[in-house]
Amino acid sequence: MRKKVTVVGAGNVGANCALRIAGKELADVVLVDVVEGVPQGKGLDLLQSGPVEGYDVMVTGANDYEPTANSDIVVITAGFPRKPGMSRDDLLMANFEIVKNATEQAVKYSPDSILVLVTNPLDAMCQTAYWVSKFAKHRVVGMAGVLDTARFRTFIARELDVSVENVTAMVLGGHGDTMVPLVRLSSVSGIPLTELLDQATLDRLVDRARNGGAEIVKHLKTGSAYYAPSAAAVEMVESILKDKKKVLPCAAYLEGEYGINGLYVGVPVKLGARGVEKIYEVKLTDDESAALKKSAAAVEELVAVMKSKM
Ligand code: NAI
Ligand code: 2OP
Repeated sequence: MRKKVTVVGAGNVGANCALRIAGKELADVVLVDVVEGVPQGKGLDLLQSGPVEGYDVMVTGANDYEPTANSDIVVITAGFPRKPGMSRDDLLMANFEIVKNATEQAVKYSPDSILVLVTNPLDAMCQTAYWVSKFAKHRVVGMAGVLDTARFRTFIARELDVSVENVTAMVLGGHGDTMVPLVRLSSVSGIPLTELLDQATLDRLVDRARNGGAEIVKHLKTGSAYYAPSAAAVEMVESILKDKKKVLPCAAYLEGEYGINGLYVGVPVKLGARGVEKIYEVKLTDDESAALKKSAAAVEELVAVMKSKM
């Protein structure tokens, strides 16, 4: 049977998710947005790309959730993006209401779906969807680490003039300024990064990865990145739909792993048909562990603000 993916939010990230899902023929796609006509128009436009691109999936758009019924995955991108000078955290309360409403509606029509969160501040929005959906923790997962590692991998590859395909990297923690790129566990075809680059260069690349989102906001001025973010979200969608069991850094609900309890934080997970099928607990040095705890504390602060509004 054909798979079905709903993408909530037909803006920059959402529309590009739909484009990539259709292009890879992963599933039929329903785009949902509050703005009348936009999801319908973008859906039809994407559908009409099918004959040229050679895909046969259905792409439709709606302002309500009835057409989304029985989706296998719901990707939530609805919400405000940041503008220059704003942090992801500045979006908290506005996007909390949007994600709360989107989750309520989506799970009403797709009670067996897996939720993939994209809206910022990412880790806090995962927590919102987890609370509202009442889904088991393995069925609510957030996209940030795939994007953050993609940025880090890009900068490493460019620095060393090697293929991005040969660069593996690990980034833990919340999707914010406190994220934790783990140089020690990053490599080029198995060669440790620390043997290829000096400390000053490594520090520069870590810093650029950490500020990768802000760098793009500064260029765009009117919004934030969407090509790499949509590619990252769709890598997760593909791993779930095809049960590929890719090991990817994602925001997952921790219950004691890494000494963190009751919080969504970015960690390596196995993503398959059941969603988050395993959380990998990597042995960290004291410094790395302290950095991860600091990052989790930043997420916890946002969660505390939301808790008072639930
Ligand atoms: P955008 O402004 O282009 O699109 C957002 C869309 O959401 C708009 O079309 C808007 O009409 C829609 N929307 C607003 N309220 C809605 C509701 N209640 N129901 C349905 N749709 C609604 O923004 P963009 O660039 O697509 O970013 C979307 C979100 O994703 C932002 O919060 C952004 O910060 C976040 N983001 C997260 C990333 C990550 O790594 N987790 C990466 C990139 C973006
Ligand atoms: C990014 O990292 C805005 O979270 C988004 O590009």
